[in-house]
Amino acid sequence: LVVNVSETSARPIPETLFGIFFEEINHAGAGGLWAELVSNRGFEAGGPNTPSNIDPWSIIGDESSLVVSTDRSSCFDRNKVALKMEVLCDSEGANICQPGGVGIYNPGFWGMNIEQGKTYKVVLYVRSSESINITVSLTDSNGGQILATTNIIASASDVSNWKMVEVLLEAKATNPKSRLQLTTTRKGVIWFDQVSTMPLDTYKGHGFRSDLVDMLANLKPRFIRFPGGCFVEGEWLRNAFRWKETIGAWEQRPGHFGDVWMYWTDDGLGYFEFLQLAEDLGALPIWVFNNGISHNDQVDTSSVLPFVQEALDGIEFARGSPNSKWGSIRAKMGHPEPFDLRYVAVGNEDCGKKNYRGNYIKFYSAIKLAYPDIQIISNCDGSSRQLDHQAELYDFHVYTSANDMFSMAHKFDHTSRSGPKAFVSEYAVTGKDAGKGSLLAALAEAGFLIGVEKNSDVVNMTSYAPLFVNVNDRRWSPDAIVFDSSKLYGTPSYWMQSFFAESSGAILHNATLQTVSSTALIASAITWTNSVDNRSYLRIKIVNFGTDLVNLKISVDGLDPNTAQLSGSNKTVLTSANLMDENSFVEPKKVAPTPTRLEIAGKEMNIILSPH
Ligand code: AHR
Repeated sequence: LVVNVSETSARPIPETLFGIFFEEINHAGAGGLWAELVSNRGFEAGGPNTPSNIDPWSIIGDESSLVVSTDRSSCFDRNKVALKMEVLCDSEGANICQPGGVGIYNPGFWGMNIEQGKTYKVVLYVRSSESINITVSLTDSNGGQILATTNIIASASDVSNWKMVEVLLEAKATNPKSRLQLTTTRKGVIWFDQVSTMPLDTYKGHGFRSDLVDMLANLKPRFIRFPGGCFVEGEWLRNAFRWKETIGAWEQRPGHFGDVWMYWTDDGLGYFEFLQLAEDLGALPIWVFNNGISHNDQVDTSSVLPFVQEALDGIEFARGSPNSKWGSIRAKMGHPEPFDLRYVAVGNEDCGKKNYRGNYIKFYSAIKLAYPDIQIISNCDGSSRQLDHQAELYDFHVYTSANDMFSMAHKFDHTSRSGPKAFVSEYAVTGKDAGKGSLLAALAEAGFLIGVEKNSDVVNMTSYAPLFVNVNDRRWSPDAIVFDSSKLYGTPSYWMQSFFAESSGAILHNATLQTVSSTALIASAITWTNSVDNRSYLRIKIVNFGTDLVNLKISVDGLDPNTAQLSGSNKTVLTSANLMDENSFVEPKKVAPTPTRLEIAGKEMNIILSPH
């Protein structure tokens, strides 16, 4: 392998080359990245009509002591459903309540992770015509062990209108399968609405689950595409993600049923929170909006203007002045400064659909008129032929077998060097080669990404998909990060991406394999200066996709003898005993990068590349 690090062979890699794609799929957000522990906090999961669906809320007590129903008496106009609890038992008299009282509990998303010493904020809305004495507790999964508890006591006049109550609970023990209980031993009728429980220690205090965000930060993503995917489209337009329904006070958000991945979300993780997450990660937000097209219905181009206005308003929300109509709402939410929104995508995977081109053009012209600098991403693939409409970037999605993915390292070799740039916004090996995340998949994807680096004059952005899976609701395999309420691990594809964490904005150099008896090898070389130690680094990445051991001689040419010398080196390997090895909660790092110090560091180095 000859690596030429002279300036003549150098080409800057786009600052945005590697990022992440977050989709609300597999409970990635609700019951995942968003740290809200209560599932269906507003009792709206069945929609706006009653009786609604209160799942996974359940009842503590029996019909002789308690009747629970839903009505539309909430104080929140956009989510009218409230829970009505008629308590028939009492602490004295003929019908005495069971020990601990009667009421309701919420197990969260397959159990709440409550940790000893940590503080949890419970917020709820309550109403009653009588005085109340409600016990708020965090308990184990069957209510037997109390991890934290307090009482809400209020007079009838205090709660005759809806009242917000907030309590802090400090846990005295740890249990990853806990639940929240609201119980009483006092006869009467109580209404509840918008019951939330959040840990106080979220990422930067912004409501994100820290351990999951740390995994993202480790990849140094330069952008985050959100919130989908198919989630943006919906099976039907009425169930698509519509940003205006996801902003403002959390209590007032209606929530919606994502009918592609088939679960309810309270939309605590809304448009504002996605922009905030991008900022917290130092990544540029890439907002994908619905363009009037779902999987099964579409708006005619002649009627698409309300959708266009919605997109313009969304851009104003993100980056308008705090005095603008939508910018002022962002400011009220605590972010007066604009978010750095530079990219938007018009729809997801809609290119072939009847109205896409017409709708797209309406969006493009209106956005460019109002915001000439915004970069607009089309769903139509421009890798093999020119687009017939204007765009700064085009989406390219690939889900395929390992061999095909590896060969796609050359996919962009012949793409026209002029025109819109490619955004490989979803890629992954899928099917039997991938299982739930195999070494084989990661190797093939690594080969593909080396091809992307080499073609980064025409590919400006790349993100793996999907990013997250909550093991309790696996809608898609494989995924980069697997988690439950308390644990997580990265799949080999996650760890593979960490090899590219320094590539965005680095310098790409010629790296030429001269022993081309094998087509199973691919290599690239980058240099960059580390801002922490201010030293320059050369990283050579090589994938051995074959079954043979390779003795590789690496020559580094073009070092300026006056200014540069190689002072040390590390070798980091991602491999495993078996090609189909996967990580798991039991063996989270079975397939993970293994760094070693190399004794050799020089212009000539001999490296042994094991098979795979
Ligand atoms: O990543 C999973 C799905 O794959 C996305 O929602 C969609 O864009 C693609 O079909």
